[in-house]
Amino acid sequence: MALYLAVANRKGGVGKSTASIMLAHSLSTWGGKRVLVVDIDSQCNASIILLGGCGWREARDGRKTISDYFVDCFKTPHTIPETYLVKETGDVVGSGGRRPVLDLLPGSLLIDEVQGDLFLDLASSSIGKSSIIDLSQRLGKLLRRWDASYDVVIMDCAPGLSFVTHAAIAIADRVIVPFRPDYVSLMAIDRISLVAEGVTNLDELAAIPISRRRYMCLPNFVRGRGQERLLIEEVGLTHPLTRVQLSHRDGIANAFEWSADARSIEDKYGDGVADLRGLYDEVSASMLATISPAKGYADDSHRALSA
Ligand SMILES: Nc1ncnc2c1ncn2[C@@H]1O[C@H](COP(=O)(O)OP(=O)(O)O)[C@@H](O)[C@H]1O
Ligand SMILES: [Mg+2]
Repeated sequence: MALYLAVANRKGGVGKSTASIMLAHSLSTWGGKRVLVVDIDSQCNASIILLGGCGWREARDGRKTISDYFVDCFKTPHTIPETYLVKETGDVVGSGGRRPVLDLLPGSLLIDEVQGDLFLDLASSSIGKSSIIDLSQRLGKLLRRWDASYDVVIMDCAPGLSFVTHAAIAIADRVIVPFRPDYVSLMAIDRISLVAEGVTNLDELAAIPISRRRYMCLPNFVRGRGQERLLIEEVGLTHPLTRVQLSHRDGIANAFEWSADARSIEDKYGDGVADLRGLYDEVSASMLATISPAKGYADDSHRALSA
């Protein structure tokens, strides 16, 4: 079974796509994992980063997108999930120039409209409120169909809380919540934490020990100022925090720079390599803790990844 990671925050511009791509590059290249990135955001940044603009348009014209996948699956029960993927993406190669297993379910500009249409279809054929839960559950099941083919599935979520984002958070083994250490970001963390834990208010959340939570907050854009340190500490009083903090660096911004000429991961990330290594070490250590050698991930991995 694959480990499913949702990278989510209801706020945009906090580094969701950046962290998704950093995890994808490092887990596939350094860790030798078979990695699938699922691009859930209609901005399609993860797709453009992994395929380049032309590659993404080609995928779209070839009906290899998340929208095509969902629409076809709702129409016919016998779709083959692999046919919607683009294989061997990204611009990073491992030692000896080998391509890592880094595949992509490309994003779609139409994903918001598509989920609205699917919802209406479902609502007209079922009674009342159940169609909301029904749609989320069906989308979640479709997202888990790559369980057997990959070691890690990374879902780069949209900033809002659409049906698909809800579904991704619901089926994820772990939710990584990148945030900027500023006051505006605090409320966004509170909101996503409630969704990740399936509770309705902060009192209910407080009843769940921090070490048992499914989500982890990842400080990003850190410049090492005193004010930021205090804010990160404040987040750590109510939410689980990663040990690693991503600095504000040009090398990390390079995650967004797709190049037609593949290069080593160290060349791509430049002065961001140490941050990348920290993120990789922490995620792979907590992943390894849940792998049972005989039958893949432990059955309770949905809840057991906290260090
Ligand atoms: N640690 C960082 N240092 C420098 N630039 C960053 C860092 N994290 C993200 N960025 C840049 O910030 C912008 C927003 O990041 P992005 O990953 O698109 O956020 P989101 O997916 O949450 O909207 C992008 O241009 C990205 O290159
Ligand atoms: Mg994004």
